[in-house]
Amino acid sequence: MPPRPTVVVTRRLPEAVERKLVDRFDARLNRDDAPLTAAQLADAVRTADALLPTVTDRVTADVLGAEPRRVRIVSNFGVGYNNIDVEAARRLGVVVTNTPDVLTDDTADIAVALMLMAARRLGEGERQVRAGEWTGWRPTHLLGTKLSGKTLGIIGLGRIGRAVARRAHHGFGMRVLYYDPPVPPAVAAEVGAEPADSLEAVLVESDVVSLHCPATPETRHLMNAERLRLMKRGALLVNTARGDVVDEAALATALADGVIAGAGLDVFEREPAVSDALRRMENVVLLPHLGSATVETRVAMGERALDNLIAFFDGREPRDRVA
Ligand code: 8YV
Repeated sequence: MPPRPTVVVTRRLPEAVERKLVDRFDARLNRDDAPLTAAQLADAVRTADALLPTVTDRVTADVLGAEPRRVRIVSNFGVGYNNIDVEAARRLGVVVTNTPDVLTDDTADIAVALMLMAARRLGEGERQVRAGEWTGWRPTHLLGTKLSGKTLGIIGLGRIGRAVARRAHHGFGMRVLYYDPPVPPAVAAEVGAEPADSLEAVLVESDVVSLHCPATPETRHLMNAERLRLMKRGALLVNTARGDVVDEAALATALADGVIAGAGLDVFEREPAVSDALRRMENVVLLPHLGSATVETRVAMGERALDNLIAFFDGREPRDRVA
């Protein structure tokens, strides 16, 4: 029998997935779950046939360029793959895959949860009760903002953006505007979303803006000081996409100056670091990148990454090839 391909798995995965990886491959698991250093990733490139990384691994051109290179496929655990230098992979003939679809609903749920938490001041209320500072019900206590009938602006109407639109329109009775030129209005209409002429038009008209675009050089700091100033003073910004899409320092300033009313963030520019300024603000909801964090979805993501590896080593085209 030919030797089984070696796969370096950079973080702990759900047990059921690790078992399947070990059954099928010579899988090198990371029992300690400590993030790999650049040197360890480069070592994996030199000594393994495949790499199964996560968002915490920076698979840079330097890492992929380690020689003599043995790695032939990087099967990312995650739909977003801005942690991988895809151009370098293409140049070097290394295949890259991701795990779309399986995390769409969970990530949309977290975007909606952040919208509700920020609009209804739920984090503040929870902190108050836990601190023993709740002095009793009163008509003017922690009044938030109603969502029904308001406008949600979606930047990026891909799978997750559409799932958020569906929830907001059909679940909460919100008007949903979107900006994403390649998406035909007829497709958007199915989830209750109407096209806007420009990104700026979405920002001007929306009570909540939710980001669902990938992190690319073009979307880096898409939400900068200037665009934040276009939003309504009472508006909220929700980010479950990637931290880089928002200029975090500009956001903190906008929130401190009352340029916008609040934010709900699941992703940050320098995870796991979150600025003191944001952590001190009551009108900001902060989550530790939980978008896809359910048992079902993390197992499904692992199985999808595994299926991509199996297809590749069986000589078939992996289903989720991105490079
Ligand atoms: C993951 C995500 O938790 O899939 C993505 O793009 O952001 C999250 O669902 C993370 O990327 C796992 O690597």
